[in-house]
Amino acid sequence: MIKVYAPASIANVKVGFDILGTAISPIDQTTYLGDCITIKKSDTFELYSSGRFVDDLPQVREQNIVFQCWQHFCKKIDDTIPMALTLEKNMPIRSGLGSSACSIVAALVAMNAYCSYPLDNNSLLRLMGEMEGRISGEIHFDNVAPCFLGGMQLILDANEIISQSLPIFDKWLWIIAYPGIAISTVEARKLLPDWYNRKDCINHSRYIAGFIHACHSKQSHLAIKLMKDTIAEPYRKKLIPHLFQIYNAVIKIGALICGISGSGPTLFAICDKSDIAINVAQWFKDYYLYNDTGFIKICRIDIKGAQILKE
Ligand code: HSE
Repeated sequence: MIKVYAPASIANVKVGFDILGTAISPIDQTTYLGDCITIKKSDTFELYSSGRFVDDLPQVREQNIVFQCWQHFCKKIDDTIPMALTLEKNMPIRSGLGSSACSIVAALVAMNAYCSYPLDNNSLLRLMGEMEGRISGEIHFDNVAPCFLGGMQLILDANEIISQSLPIFDKWLWIIAYPGIAISTVEARKLLPDWYNRKDCINHSRYIAGFIHACHSKQSHLAIKLMKDTIAEPYRKKLIPHLFQIYNAVIKIGALICGISGSGPTLFAICDKSDIAINVAQWFKDYYLYNDTGFIKICRIDIKGAQILKE
């Protein structure tokens, strides 16, 4: 039997639309913030599902991304391998927390381990990106790469180098606030323009280049100052009512920055002191939860990424 866990992630990290993402795990470590896949021996292909968000999965097996992962994995290795898969769907779909990436990464890591590692990490990551593209309409690695590899990942996708790890600021606490409603990434991507003006392009380059420089030169204050989004936030802000008022409120409490996680509706805030993080989390609980499905977590960057829990 093989069991794999794949963590939630924050794509874009405000400053790096489609090219920056970080894996996260709750500081209390009592709960998983991610999906699990278990594979057992079987003579046929079988797919079972469980977990808190199991009811959100497609009813038709062929539409389940895990089934599609199996099909594409078998195609890639040129062999049809029977197995009994169970997806533990702990992550809400369309939440902005890389829910589909959690299922894809856990499934492909588990299948690769089950079949004695026919694919190297690069081929596996490429396949993960392709599967993510089927769900969100376009291939982007900013959830699957951190979910698979851990840490904060900068997506290069140049000359076979898909992703590189960035140095991280250990003191940062990441508060994530999922309100309990859904936003489709496909729809959120449709809001973005095809063309950007020169000023926005130059500012975007300045901010992302500066942020990466700040990570490497260990200047956390500079990194925070440069976390600005000229690409997605101006066009997606209408999806989240009172977005800038929310930013102002948590920054007033002491958060260093606040932004949209992936395509939303989850928001993230960064704090460097735990008492402030607790107060920010409480503010989100009081003012940003729409229903009982929502949740708030104080997290750190998950440096491990996908983990084989049992083999
Ligand atoms: N970079 C992607 C987007 C992430 O913002 O559309 C989606 O989770």
